[in-house]
Amino acid sequence: MAKTKTAYVCTDCGSEFARWLGQCTDCKAWNTISEFRQAKAPARAGNFSGFAGLTEAKVQTLDDIDLAEVPRFSSGYAEFDRVLGGGIVPGSAILIGGEPGAGKSTLLLQTMCSLAVNMSALYITGEESLQQVAMRAKRLGLPTDKLKMLSETSVENICQIAQKEQPRIIVIDSIQVMHMADIQSAPGSVSQVRESAAYLTRYAKQNQVAMLIVGHVTKDGSLAGPKVLEHCIDCSIMLEGSTDSRYRTLRGHKNRFGAVNELGVFAMTGGGLKEVKNPSAIFLTRGEEQTPGSVVMVLWEGTRPLLVEIQALVDHSALGNPRRVAVGADQNRLSMLLAILHRHGGLQLSDQDVFVNVVGGVKVTETSIDLALILALVSSFKNNALPQDLVIFGEVGLSGEIRPVPSGQERIYEAAKHGFKKAIVPYNNKPKQAIAGMEVIAVKKLSDALDVI
Ligand code: TYD
Ligand code: MG
Repeated sequence: MAKTKTAYVCTDCGSEFARWLGQCTDCKAWNTISEFRQAKAPARAGNFSGFAGLTEAKVQTLDDIDLAEVPRFSSGYAEFDRVLGGGIVPGSAILIGGEPGAGKSTLLLQTMCSLAVNMSALYITGEESLQQVAMRAKRLGLPTDKLKMLSETSVENICQIAQKEQPRIIVIDSIQVMHMADIQSAPGSVSQVRESAAYLTRYAKQNQVAMLIVGHVTKDGSLAGPKVLEHCIDCSIMLEGSTDSRYRTLRGHKNRFGAVNELGVFAMTGGGLKEVKNPSAIFLTRGEEQTPGSVVMVLWEGTRPLLVEIQALVDHSALGNPRRVAVGADQNRLSMLLAILHRHGGLQLSDQDVFVNVVGGVKVTETSIDLALILALVSSFKNNALPQDLVIFGEVGLSGEIRPVPSGQERIYEAAKHGFKKAIVPYNNKPKQAIAGMEVIAVKKLSDALDVI
């Protein structure tokens, strides 16, 4: 057995310590540090050629580096490609995270079956049996004749077999069941997950293979989540969405080859995952009736706009300490906006319960939600519905000024495309040329916006 060295690693942020601590000094999380046995460097030397120091490193200037050798290939899904920054880069390690049941295996099986038609592709399943995967592929009507399948959990064996088969793309489903012989702890522990992922990533880099690694996220931190992996992989994307909802969003969290915060939308159907080409339409399925407290805003997701509906309910509170609940929006931001509304809009809501919800399970982290949220609150409080064809966005400052947000013009265009006729936007986001069929109301202060509605 090879010698090992013991380190302590935070499962949240991945920081390493020499001894165990109750709280991580970097990310301040409690009880996240666990013991991690690292195989000493020589023990790791792989037994396949072209590895472990056999390739000679040389110093080059940026100019000398040949750029022509990164042709991306498409995954076959435009939504998936978008999140990856335009396709899969050979030699990259991509982590697909998500809760169990999100549809990671389904997405990758569909992708791999169609990719296998044109290139050598290897799907490694450690969780499901080969029969289960084959049955699913048959049921989904996927092309099953070309994809190479392997049921294996030993990382060393996987790399050896890959060396023989020479695939251009490999899926590892999932990293939590993979193990290496040098490490004594159980599969799924921090040390196994980290070392296995590092080994696979090195293999991917040296052999120019695209490596798609599945990682489960668990609510309790007992299993190593994708957080400990984010250092060594190139892209980390999350497949999110509650299992009771049909829609799944694919979101980039880290990407060395493109923008993050790109959003891809899929729908889980009886026939597998299907792309949703026009996501604005699904988040905007509103009834004919106008309801107080409902406002549509335009969000900017990576490189494209997305229309979402914000709902607010303001109701008299029987509690001494009224509730402020925000689902899909930031709670602290809601408190701040309520203070701004009081100070600059003259509306006192301190004896009211306030509930805010972003429809469709979308999470808004952008400041452009501010103005839409405030106007939704006012609309609910006054029990006065806003027009159905009105769209609102803009950041609100602490002194009640309306601040511009990036890509204002594109947001207005997107709203016009979906049939909206009026827009309340920050003054500095006002388009220079009029947009056909769209009345743009540009506001400078919160009081102006309140006057308009
Ligand atoms: P799965 O890909 O196994 O999830 P993960 O690998 O992320 O754990 O699929 C999860 C869910 O998707 C499963 O509970 C059933 C559902 N599903 C469908 O609704 N339709 C389908 O065609 C398939 C294949 C799965
Ligand atoms: Mg799975």
